[in-house]
Amino acid sequence: MSKEEIDYILKVAEKLEPYARGVQGDLLSGKLFAMLFYEPSTRTRLSFETATKRLGGDVIGFSSPESSSFSKGESLADTIRVVSGYADAIILRHPKEGAALFASQYSTVPLINAGDGAGHHPTQTLLDLYTLHKESTLEGVKIALVGDLKYGRTVHSLVYALSLYNAKIFLVSPPELSMPSHVVSDILERGATVHETTSIEDVIEEVDAIYMTRIQKERFPDPSEYQRVVGSYRLTQELLKMAKPTTIVMHPLPRVDEIDPAVDNMPNAKYFQQSFYGVPVRMAVLCILMGVFD
Ligand code: CP
Repeated sequence: MSKEEIDYILKVAEKLEPYARGVQGDLLSGKLFAMLFYEPSTRTRLSFETATKRLGGDVIGFSSPESSSFSKGESLADTIRVVSGYADAIILRHPKEGAALFASQYSTVPLINAGDGAGHHPTQTLLDLYTLHKESTLEGVKIALVGDLKYGRTVHSLVYALSLYNAKIFLVSPPELSMPSHVVSDILERGATVHETTSIEDVIEEVDAIYMTRIQKERFPDPSEYQRVVGSYRLTQELLKMAKPTTIVMHPLPRVDEIDPAVDNMPNAKYFQQSFYGVPVRMAVLCILMGVFD
């Protein structure tokens, strides 16, 4: 997406925020969205559902593949062909990298990638950008992405978008979980400023935002590899005292133990606000795809 397209989505999301906060709307009245979730989700699925229903639309779908005909051996391609005859758009989460792109070739309606394995999670990125815009700064932001940068799909999408906003990006991870080199080369080519380190302490005083991530246990081919890196980073009140008072803490969630719950009460903690912003941002995505503002 271009910067102009992203900025337009963020502007529409801001207009739709009252609906996300509970005003009942009808912008999506008569629209039906299929939520096909082949992997667990709380925020993405429920915020898409909330966005749809608060704007008068409706959803169908499944929240685990076991309850679909996948369990009888149906292919993703056939499922998409069938469901695109039922719904106005498809929202797909799948454990395989590239699944959304593959599925889009079989869909006759718009298909939204709600997370494809360790690949990408573009609507998470849109709500991350919206959070920076609302709670900190987006243009020229100095941001530390901390934790599992290898398997974490949210950070893969996020760095591409940040490279459009003159961001200074600090990649903080153990060497085993560093950002894939092809992603780093891509964003450098796009003009991003990137620094890689293994230590939060190296960068915490400088940044406007700290984006913590969970170590993606489910993506490790070898459990002993996970055991070597689990608990690599934990943001505590004490560590956060080194940051500027205005530095915000973000996390796509779910978290496990990478943010001490004592941080939740600090004014810097924005991760629950961030997950709320998924509703207006996904409202904007759905409305724009449905041509509501044409
Ligand atoms: N951030 C995110 O994608 O959360 P869920 O896995 O709960 O949808």
